[in-house]
Amino acid sequence: VPSSNIRNFSIIAHIDHGKSTLADKLLQMTGTVESREMKAQFLDNMDLERERGITIKLQAARMRFMYNNEAYCLNLIDTPGHVDFSYEVSRSLAACEGALLVVDASQGVEAQTLANVYLALENNLEIIPVLNKIDLPGADPERVSREIEEVVGLDCSDAIYCSAKEGIGINEILSAIVQKIPPPQDTAERPLRALIFDSYYDAYRGVIVYFRVIDGTIRKGDRIMFMASKKDYYADEVGVLSPNQLQVNQLNAGEVGYLSASIRSVADARVGDTITHYSRKAEESLPGYKEATPMVFCGLFPVDADQFTELRDALEKLQLNDAALKFEPETSSAMGFGFRCGFLGLLHMEIVQERLEREYNLSLITTAPSVVYRVNCVNGDTVECSNPSLLPEPGSRRSIEEPYVKIEMLTPKDYIGALMELAQDRRGEFKELKFITEIRASIIYELPLAEMVGDFFDQLKSRSKGYASMEYSFIGYKESDLIKLDIQINGDPVEPLSTIVHKDKAYAVGRALTQKLKELIPRQMFKVPIQACIGSKVIASEAISAIRKDVLAKCYGGDITRKKKLLRKQAEGKKRMKAIGRVDVPQEAFMAVLKLE
Ligand code: GTP
Repeated sequence: VPSSNIRNFSIIAHIDHGKSTLADKLLQMTGTVESREMKAQFLDNMDLERERGITIKLQAARMRFMYNNEAYCLNLIDTPGHVDFSYEVSRSLAACEGALLVVDASQGVEAQTLANVYLALENNLEIIPVLNKIDLPGADPERVSREIEEVVGLDCSDAIYCSAKEGIGINEILSAIVQKIPPPQDTAERPLRALIFDSYYDAYRGVIVYFRVIDGTIRKGDRIMFMASKKDYYADEVGVLSPNQLQVNQLNAGEVGYLSASIRSVADARVGDTITHYSRKAEESLPGYKEATPMVFCGLFPVDADQFTELRDALEKLQLNDAALKFEPETSSAMGFGFRCGFLGLLHMEIVQERLEREYNLSLITTAPSVVYRVNCVNGDTVECSNPSLLPEPGSRRSIEEPYVKIEMLTPKDYIGALMELAQDRRGEFKELKFITEIRASIIYELPLAEMVGDFFDQLKSRSKGYASMEYSFIGYKESDLIKLDIQINGDPVEPLSTIVHKDKAYAVGRALTQKLKELIPRQMFKVPIQACIGSKVIASEAISAIRKDVLAKCYGGDITRKKKLLRKQAEGKKRMKAIGRVDVPQEAFMAVLKLE
């Protein structure tokens, strides 16, 4: 296919607005996949993704479409749907000339969608508005079109009305892709530059790299080089995604495909890196490459100390496939040996945890996530601290800075008050409130990332009955009046429960945290005091009373099967407990600080 007959596009949509359903229909209509071989949704092909119903990893698919008796090659590049992965979204958009903006016609534009539309506009993409779910009785495509025009400034006079579910408007969408999205430039003569928009680790072939050829040509057998990692390899296999991998001999400027080259870790061929030829190098790499910077850290400890080596092996394996995952050994007197791990955000953290437990059969205790603080010390040094228990002592530090984010919340006007209160409670600094339509508003705040980690998103959803959406971006570090709050259980300091809080909140957090821990830690044979301290000063204290004798007596009575059942139950419960001194502390207690309201 000549490059003039290629169209590269992606789909921008908010979660649940129908992206996967539409992608499936496009694949079906173009005969790319037979409907009988379609899994429920082809593009989201990781189990975890399907279970959570969200797109984490992006993928691509090539379709053939006949338009005015000419064959066109349409490459759909999928984008992940969560804020933690916005860098991956930006790279997949950079690999396209256009995008479908899919909006649920019974809802409206959401914050995350807006953020991605702006990314697409920055990349000069042609945007085709599509109003989905017009089959729903509550659909009001005219209203939503006006909203898109007002909010995004995008002409919606020929927006396409569609129902991905019923297959309405699919042909119009395919035709619009051909008519409106510009073809890629034919720069096959230039030195090779291909943009990586995804990569994953395959146990047999090594890393599989998904890319868009921007300039030049890549052939099977070529000696290639990754410009950021500076690693070079021979391309064993080059192919297209139809959507299954299909080998070809070469790919030219404008085309989208994959390669394998016995690459051992995704860190050598990361999203955003540029592929060039080893012997005829491009002068400059493609713009936009960024190192992955973890924003959130937590400790991961095996419940059973014997699993330490297994945990390390599992993390190493996961890292082969996840360049953003960082980890280093962490030892704590309370928790024993484990790892301090860094993640892009909370969802990323949960995904990794879940994999470790599910795919590697590990039983883990996770400590509350922390952001990275910058501590300016008296001696002039600046140290980064992602582990509250390691915060330099008050005497040696001059000031502490913490990461700030700018958040934008989109909400129906009824919930403006509730959401402003939420942001205010989280030390938010009000920036802007504007009505994007008569009934929907955008609220902008700047607040500490630490206040967002945890239940902020859940709160936003519950306070708006599910109607608000949000988006955030890191804006930099700011000095704050922060102190460390320590917890002692039965007189033993429990470092993983230490937390860094704003001075004005310390007493409230101390009280709430001790109360919460009292609820979460099971009663023991003896009385257990729980104290919150700042330095050596106790600011809040609670006590868990001892189990009474008669309760115990009851437990040990009864017949043997019952006793066995009880023992088994206890053993199961124990799995997620860590013995701190003489007290068993359950997993939930380590996360208590996140849910104090
Ligand atoms: P993520 O993968 O989480 O980003 O979601 P998505 O945007 O891919 O949404 P998905 O395609 O999974 O659709 C979400 C829900 O909306 C599903 O229950 C679909 O069946 C439904 N849906 C999608 N398109 C339509 C449509 O045109 N009409 C109706 N009534 N429902 C639709």
